[in-house]
Amino acid sequence: MIATATATELFLPPFVLFGRGALDQLGQRAHGFGRRALVITDRGLVATGLVGRATEALQAAGIDSIVFDRVEPNPTVTQVEAGIAAGAGHGVDVLVSIGGGSAHDCAKMVALVAANGGDVRDYEGTDRAAGPGLPLVAVNTTAGTGADVSRFAVISDTERKMKMVIADRRVVPAVAINDPLTTTRMPKAVTMASGLDALTHAVEAYASTAASDFTDLLSLRAVELVNRHLTRAIEHGDDLDAREGMMLASLYAGLAINSALVGATHALAHALGALLDLPHGVCNGILLPHVCVANYASRRQRYDKLATIFGGAADGKRLPESLRRLGDRAGLPRGLGAIGVTRAHIPDLVERALADMTMSTNPRPLTRADVAAIYERAL
Ligand SMILES: [Fe+2]
Repeated sequence: MIATATATELFLPPFVLFGRGALDQLGQRAHGFGRRALVITDRGLVATGLVGRATEALQAAGIDSIVFDRVEPNPTVTQVEAGIAAGAGHGVDVLVSIGGGSAHDCAKMVALVAANGGDVRDYEGTDRAAGPGLPLVAVNTTAGTGADVSRFAVISDTERKMKMVIADRRVVPAVAINDPLTTTRMPKAVTMASGLDALTHAVEAYASTAASDFTDLLSLRAVELVNRHLTRAIEHGDDLDAREGMMLASLYAGLAINSALVGATHALAHALGALLDLPHGVCNGILLPHVCVANYASRRQRYDKLATIFGGAADGKRLPESLRRLGDRAGLPRGLGAIGVTRAHIPDLVERALADMTMSTNPRPLTRADVAAIYERAL
């Protein structure tokens, strides 16, 4: 990758299918990528019948499937290794992930390591793979992570109790399928957490040091869509307009972070996920207002602009309160204390957050004391 101080980098996924009924096209869209698929998903989605529908569609397109359904939230190195083992010896030549961020991230690393060899941990960092991974078709069933279009995978290393961020052009899915009809039965808690993840992606990409005109368009529109649709999607899960709005927000925010990346909220949330296995979107939702306060002085105009999306004056000092109100309406706990974090965890969390690569595009560098203060206020 060649980058200069002035060049804008745009990372775009090869193909995205978006809309009601898009899942019906899975077979034809996966056709040509392989003959034998390893489907990476979780047991809950198998139980809903969605995975069966997908494997039938693949079969109709001449693609046999093996199903690995052991993905759990905050996927680990061990889960990736189990996924590779599930496909080994079966001539797998295409991956299909069905689910949210966890399924896609796990599948991305199965695809990369199965094709390139070595250990999952070898790929931590930016563009470490020597060659392409197996092609991946990502079927999204949540609305928020953007993992179906992104060049990132986040995998927990339970030995080191940290979340590894793998940023690699070679993990971008070849096909992303976003069908809002698959999200109508998403539980309220998942709708809330994934929606707040999308919101955090959009706000952080807009404030990022790597933001560009292109990513700004996507970020601002994503914030607008989350503000308009999140509460409705939680309270009325069968409202297709709200579900479609949230899925679009997820897509736009995912495209934005592909090029603009994120910031300190994600660094602090990754530390919480790694140490205490807490839900990513919930951690982001609680931390985001506090990080906006810490960053405000260095990106004043940008936070002022974001504040206008929630109504009222262009005053970024009011943005944290607007974000909190949205969180309240979504049923988000007000503080980290409510999800089991204590003051005693903070020193360890601070070290992990400072080492996280997503800190690098935060609008300003944060010191150890800054990060500790954010955790304290967010308790
Ligand atoms: Fe995220």
